Amino acid sequence: MHKPKSVFSNNNSQTPIWFLRQAGRHIPEYFELRNKADNFIDFCLNTELIVKSTKLPLKYYDLDAAIIFSDILMIPWAMNRNVHFIKGFGPSLEPMIPSETKIIKNIDLYNKLRPLQISISTVKKELPKEKKLIGFAGAPWTLACYMIEGHGSKDFIITRKALWNSNKWFMELLDVLCINIANKLEMQAKAGADILMLFDSWSHMIPNNFFQECCIKPTANIINMLRQKGVFQPVIGLPFKAGSSLVNYSYESNVDCIALDWTVDLVWAKKNINSSVTIQGNLDPVSLIPRNSIFLEKNVLSILDIMADNKFIFNVGHGLTPDCKIENVRKVIDIVRNFK
Ligand code: CP3
Repeated sequence: MHKPKSVFSNNNSQTPIWFLRQAGRHIPEYFELRNKADNFIDFCLNTELIVKSTKLPLKYYDLDAAIIFSDILMIPWAMNRNVHFIKGFGPSLEPMIPSETKIIKNIDLYNKLRPLQISISTVKKELPKEKKLIGFAGAPWTLACYMIEGHGSKDFIITRKALWNSNKWFMELLDVLCINIANKLEMQAKAGADILMLFDSWSHMIPNNFFQECCIKPTANIINMLRQKGVFQPVIGLPFKAGSSLVNYSYESNVDCIALDWTVDLVWAKKNINSSVTIQGNLDPVSLIPRNSIFLEKNVLSILDIMADNKFIFNVGHGLTPDCKIENVRKVIDIVRNFK
C-alpha cells in the first residue's frame, strides 16, 4: 500500500511548529470575527469567517501550519444531534438513547459541511506554499462521549455506563461514527488539507479493558478507510492523556504521528513509542499564561534537546487557553526557530 509522506515534508531541517487551538480566544481579533455570527455553529458554517480565523494566527506568528477553523462537534451537528454552544457552559447536545443509532446512519455530510470544504480550498489557495493546512475530526469515542452525555463532563459516567450496559449498541455507534469521520476527513483531504488530525480528547475516560476496541481499533479503521479511498495524507492522532496505552496506540492505530499531552515524559516516549511514528508535543499550554516565567525557556529547550534526533513537531500538549499571552507564544517560536 502507498505509504504517506513524512508529516511535514518541508526541505529544511528545522523543527516544525504550530499550536493546538492556535486560532481561538487568546487573539483579540478573533472576537471581532466571532461577533459577526449569531452563534458558534453559524460561525463554523460561514466560509468568510472560517477562512479569516484560520489565517489569523499566521498573521501573528511564524507558524508552519494553519488548522482549519471548525469544531469536532460539527459531525454530531450534521447528524442532527441538536448541538448548541452555550456561553459559560460549553457544548450542549440532545443526549442519545440506544434505539436512535439506525436513524443517523445516512447523513449527507458533504452537503451539510460544504462551507468547510469550500473554506479549505480557499485557504489552501491563499496560504504560502510552504505552510501546511491541517484538517481534522473528533475521534469516535470522544464524539460518542458528547453525544451520549449531552455535554462535557469530568468523568463521563453516563457514557461509560452505556458502554458497560449495551456494548453492542455502543460499538454500532462507534462504527457509524467511523464512517462519518472517514468521510469528513476524505472531504477535507480532497479539498486541499495536507495533514489530517484526529482528536481523542476524552480517551483517558476509556476503561483500560475497552481501550483497544474504543480508541485504537476505530482509529485504525478510519485510517484504513482513508487509504482505501485514495487519501494518503499523514494522520496525527491525539489520544489525550492515554498514559500506558500510548504504546499500543503508537504501534496499532496506523497514525503517522502521535500528539502527546503535557504529562508524558519525552525520554520515556522515545524509549517506548513506535520509533517510526513522529512525535508531536508537548509543552503545557498553561506555561504560556504567566508573564516572564523563569521555567518557560528552560522547558522549551529541554523538549528540543530530548527530541533533537527524533521525527518531531513542536506543539502544546493541549489547546491554548483564552488567557495565554501572545508574547509567550512568540517567545517559544523564537526559541524553536533559533535552536541548533
Ligand atoms: O485553532 C484551532 O485549533 C481550530 C479550531 C478548533 C476549535 N475546536 C475551535 C473552537 C479545534 C481544532 C477544535 C477542536 C475541539 N472542539 C476539541 C478537540 C481538541 C481539544 O481541545 O481537546 C474539542 C473537545 C472540542 C469541543 C468544544 N468546542 C468545546 C468543549 C468547546 C467549548 C470551549 C469553551 O471553553 O467554551 C468548543 C467551542 C470552541 N471550539 C471554541 C473555539 C475557538 C470557543 C467558542 C467561542 O468562541 O465561543
